[in-house]
Amino acid sequence: MRAKEASAAGVQVVDHPLVAARLSILRARATPPNEFRDNIQQLAIILLGEAARAWETRVVEMESPLRWFLGAELARPIVLVPILRAGLGLLDGMIRIVPEASTGHIGIYRDPQTLRPVRYYSRLPPNLSQAQVLLLDPMLATGQSAAEAVSILKAEGAERIQFVCLVACPTGIKELRRSHPEVPIIAAAVDLELNSAGYIVPGLGDAGDRYFGTT
Ligand code: URA
Repeated sequence: MRAKEASAAGVQVVDHPLVAARLSILRARATPPNEFRDNIQQLAIILLGEAARAWETRVVEMESPLRWFLGAELARPIVLVPILRAGLGLLDGMIRIVPEASTGHIGIYRDPQTLRPVRYYSRLPPNLSQAQVLLLDPMLATGQSAAEAVSILKAEGAERIQFVCLVACPTGIKELRRSHPEVPIIAAAVDLELNSAGYIVPGLGDAGDRYFGTT
């Protein structure tokens, strides 16, 4: 899916030379876990910058060493919520740029037979209704884990949710849009398809295994 089509499907694809270069390193089979980790974290920072374009700020009167000026501060607390475990890679990059953010965790795994999401853990900060929430998962594959995670966040009061991933595919986009049409999707790329095992093609393989070196 090209950037124009993706945008028509409601996905903000970050069209940027650094994103393309870093993502190619992640896709390459030969990339070792240490490089894979570095590149995910660097990409996460760029994607965070893109997501943050939509964040509200408020004007605050401040003083430089020379005189007062009108500055800006983020209007809402930021909550980063990785879907365990691959989402932790995006978190590791982003938390360096927004160290003031709270972190929630949602554990969902895909049943290997049915590919349906199974929720096994959820621990979220109490301020979700006020917060700007970023839900993180590198791969938007079937879309079912993402949709389930958004439902969990909404049930806990979240009203402003953005979904950030590295690679999306048409199936995942369709499912997340169907379940939660108002949630923006920010991605580094939209790939061709999902294979019968639930992997995005060409994709980058199992993001969690490659990040944690458990392949
Ligand atoms: N999860 C992954 O890690 N990779 C995919 O391609 C799909 C889901």
